[in-house]
Amino acid sequence: MDKLAIRGGKALEGSIQISGSKNASLPIAVAAGILGASESRIHNVPNLQDIHTLMGVLRHLGVEIEYADGTLHVGASPRLSVEAPYDLVRRMRASVYVLGPLLARFGRARVSFPGGCAIGARPVDLHLRGMEALGASIRIEHGYILAEADRLRGARFNLEGPRGASVGATANTLMAAVLAEGHTEIECAAMEPEIADLADFLTQMGAKIDGAGTPVISVEGVSKLRGTEYKAPPDRIEAASYLAAGAITRGNVRILGAERKHMGAVLGKLTEADIWIDWTGNDAQVTVPNGIRSVDVETATYPGFPTDAQAQYMALMCLAEGRCEIAENIFTERFMHALELQRMGAQIAVTGSRAVVTGVESLTGAPVMASDLRAGMALVLAGLAAKGETVVSRVYHIDRGYERIEEKLAAVGADIRRIRE
Ligand code: EPZ
Repeated sequence: MDKLAIRGGKALEGSIQISGSKNASLPIAVAAGILGASESRIHNVPNLQDIHTLMGVLRHLGVEIEYADGTLHVGASPRLSVEAPYDLVRRMRASVYVLGPLLARFGRARVSFPGGCAIGARPVDLHLRGMEALGASIRIEHGYILAEADRLRGARFNLEGPRGASVGATANTLMAAVLAEGHTEIECAAMEPEIADLADFLTQMGAKIDGAGTPVISVEGVSKLRGTEYKAPPDRIEAASYLAAGAITRGNVRILGAERKHMGAVLGKLTEADIWIDWTGNDAQVTVPNGIRSVDVETATYPGFPTDAQAQYMALMCLAEGRCEIAENIFTERFMHALELQRMGAQIAVTGSRAVVTGVESLTGAPVMASDLRAGMALVLAGLAAKGETVVSRVYHIDRGYERIEEKLAAVGADIRRIRE
């Protein structure tokens, strides 16, 4: 398993190109592969492990799909297997996205229950609630979800879960509803930009959708969807992560090709922390003229502060001036990075879903371990600012969500190298 060795203390200087959004590309690739009666091309898709894992799942179903130079070429699929096996689904829970489209197109699906992961239990009860509302019969046996429906029928259902809306359940049920007979209303739908992008893609395929990006999405079912061409939006979490890299090293970094309107909550908090972000079109320059101020944050569903930026923000607050409280309201186990940051000298007190971070003068490099992709990035950020060497292990977590991380950071002056093992 690869490691990243970082010698910290260098102020980063230069530009970082933001890659396409992983979390927008994944459901769009599923929609193209299973719902499209003709070919699709999806551009600006990042070259990430998760993308290749999903390609493996789609190929197993019989979808012809290739990745070349940032573009996914997805063939038309007249007939497909409807079974997504455990050994594929367990590698990436987003594989469960195939459930709704298989059910909508072929009336059957047998999909392995996705496993949990380091950030907590990852249930799919809300996905199943939507499928049942659309008329599917659901059975769970031997770790598999068996779903059947002669013809999905439009319905009104509410997807509110214990933490509010669910991105995955919204995407999955939306991809089922577009081919269901009649009118569907999805209440308490996730408002994340990735849902709006999925809806845009489906609309280009011929679907009839209103309200994506709001809490209620309305769908008029159609009988067929054709392939189309689309460009994935920039990754808003990668953009936030590299703004944090510029800030934590007190450097002068410009991120290129970001989508400002998707980053409101993060930009608001960084600005409140006295981090200066100057936009020119889709590019943003980050500098820290004085110190970083400690500012409280609560993660929330969109448009609130994204849980996927919480770990990176915590790393930043470890070197801020003062004390702040970080509340993680979306996942139950998303403070694993705190234990590793403490090994680098951070002062963090975790109590349940809240962490109090007291800023320190400096961190010291240490051997640390990534537990999920965003925690891994938090450790890289801390390593970039720490005195001495930090070696981050289990880098495969980071490779799931960050394209060419060591190249992008080395290009702006970071002393970082990959140790292949
Ligand atoms: C998506 O995961 C993202 N993944 C996650 O990003 C992100 O952290 C998450 O949304 C929240 O924004 C992709 O888009 C591939 P949820 P998802 O369903 O859909 C509970 C990353 O870093 N819930 O919105 O799985 C759930 O336990 C990843 O790229 C149910 O209770 O998240 C959680 O507490 C990590 N029942 C909350 O809802 C369900 O059926 C939000 O989960 C589904 C979810």
